[in-house]
Formats: sequence, C-alpha cells, structure tokens
Amino acid sequence: MENLSRYFGDMCCPDFRLENFVVHVWRVFLPKLEPYKDQLESVISDEERAWAQRFRLPDIRSSFILRRGFLRTLIQNYTEIRADRVEFCHSAWGKPELLGSKEVGCLQFNTAHSRDSMILAFGKDLSVGVDLEYVDKNYPVIKVATRFFTPQESATLREAESHRLVSLFFEIWVRKEAFLKAIGRGLSLPLDSFEVPLNTAGACAEEPPIRSATMEKDGNLWFFSDITFSTLYKACLATSPPPSAIRIFGPSK
Ligand SMILES: CC(C)(COP(=O)(O)OP(=O)(O)OC[C@H]1O[C@@H](n2cnc3c(N)ncnc32)[C@H](O)[C@@H]1OP(=O)(O)O)[C@@H](O)C(=O)NCCC(=O)NCCS
Repeated sequence: MENLSRYFGDMCCPDFRLENFVVHVWRVFLPKLEPYKDQLESVISDEERAWAQRFRLPDIRSSFILRRGFLRTLIQNYTEIRADRVEFCHSAWGKPELLGSKEVGCLQFNTAHSRDSMILAFGKDLSVGVDLEYVDKNYPVIKVATRFFTPQESATLREAESHRLVSLFFEIWVRKEAFLKAIGRGLSLPLDSFEVPLNTAGACAEEPPIRSATMEKDGNLWFFSDITFSTLYKACLATSPPPSAIRIFGPSK
C-alpha cells in the first residue's frame, strides 16, 4: 500500500501548523490520490463507506472515497484526532463541521470539487467557504446569469468582451458560492440576494500573488481570494473576518 506521507513529501513544504486567522488552501488533482486509495478508504467511516456504495459509477464512487479520506487525513494532521475517529456534524443547511471543533482549536473547514479536482480550506476562528468550478465553454452563461444573478452582475456580463464572458461568469459564480458556503447556507439562499464585488483590489501580498476583493454584508467584512487552478477551473475562497495570511498547498495543475 502506498503511504500518503509520500504524497505530502512530494509537495513543497506542507506545514500543518495553523495559526489563528491564517487560512490554508489545498489544491488536489484527484488522480494523484489514486495510488493511496487503500489508505484513504481505510479511514472513512462505515456510514461513508455505505454512502460510497450508492454511487453506481466506479469513478464517482472512487472520487467520493478519495475526497473523504483526504479530508479526514488533513484533519488528523491539523488536530491530531485520528483520521478514522474524526466525527462530523452538520449545520441547519448541511454544512459539515468538525464535531467538538472548540476542543480542537476552533478548526473550520470547507471543501469543493469539480470533475477531477478538489479544493479544501482550513482556518481557525474565522468562517471559510470555497468553491471550484470547471469552466464549461458551452455553458449558457447569459441565460443563467439573467435568471439567477443580480441585475448589476448580469449587466456586467452582457457588457463583457466575448473572450472574457465565460471565465467572468464562473469568477462571479465561484465568489457567490464560496460566500454561501462560508455562511453555511449553500444554494438555499437565492444567488441574487447579494452582490459579490467584481473589482479586484489587485494582487495581495501572497506567494504567488492572488487577486482579492472585499464585501460588507450584515455588518461583517468578507474577503474573497481567487485561487489559481489550471486554466480549466475557477476557484474562490471566502472568509470573514479577512485572514491575516493565506497559504496554498498543492500544484495549480
Ligand atoms: C452546498 C452546495 C452549494 C454545494 O454545491 P456543489 O457545487 O454541488 O458542491 P461543491 O463541490 O461546491 O461542495 C460540496 C461540499 O460542500 C460542503 N457542503 C455541503 N453543504 C454545505 C453547506 N450548506 N454550506 C457549506 N458547505 C456545504 C460539503 O463538504 C460538500 O462535500 P461532499 O459533497 O464531499 O459532502 C449545495 O449542495 C447546496 O446548496 N445544497 C443545499 C443546501 C440546503 O439547502 N440544504 C438543505 C438542508 S440539508
């Protein structure tokens, strides 16, 4: 059985010390986890194993096992709770949280996946949400934006240069969904009930530089960071309060 320490060993300095208000973002290309599937499967719960069996397509079943096993493994590294003993609870709208997160230093996390890629974010003492979307060139962006985005957001899209249209749509989408996942509501809250900032405040002082923007909502300051994936994806991290630093692990493609 391949050992996951090799996966982490191949990565540039993974570091599981997570200071308060710092966010760690993990970019994962799921096929890279395949060699460790046995180890990852061994740490998921019986309930998750039973859930995996409900996916008839082997690829989808396998992706679920890799994602859950990897999430548990990272939580083990951040908290020292054994991966197979990690317990989750869910908010009213289904956001998974770590059971007893106060005892393990208020660890917050959120995950998203699209096709063969996954993103995970971890932070302490702040709300975190992430979204990742494959940029589907054939997506009916104007139709969907007109139906679901605010009038201002869809007007911005209609005015966009044609070569930017699809990627701008997904940039807006991932910002919206990252925010909705940070507050735990998911798509239970209408996408046009708030407007995400489209102007980016330029690169923030991270390595590599990432584009960021802020938004005030219900008296809270929200911070959005575009997370670079391969050109096939758009990804965003939303946090409140703004993090003091963001560290990104894993390759961008
Ligand atoms: C949350 C939601 C936006 C995810 O959308 P998606 O594009 O299908 O999936 P993503 O890859 O972005 O994210 C999936 C992850 O988000 C997390 N998640 C699930 N519900 C969440 C919520 N309400 N808030 C934040 N994160 C959530 C889970 O970790 C999930 O991972 P899993 O599929 O491995 O369990 C969508 O499922 C949703 O809105 N659900 C409805 C919420 C709701 O109304 N629930 C009713 C009561 S349960």
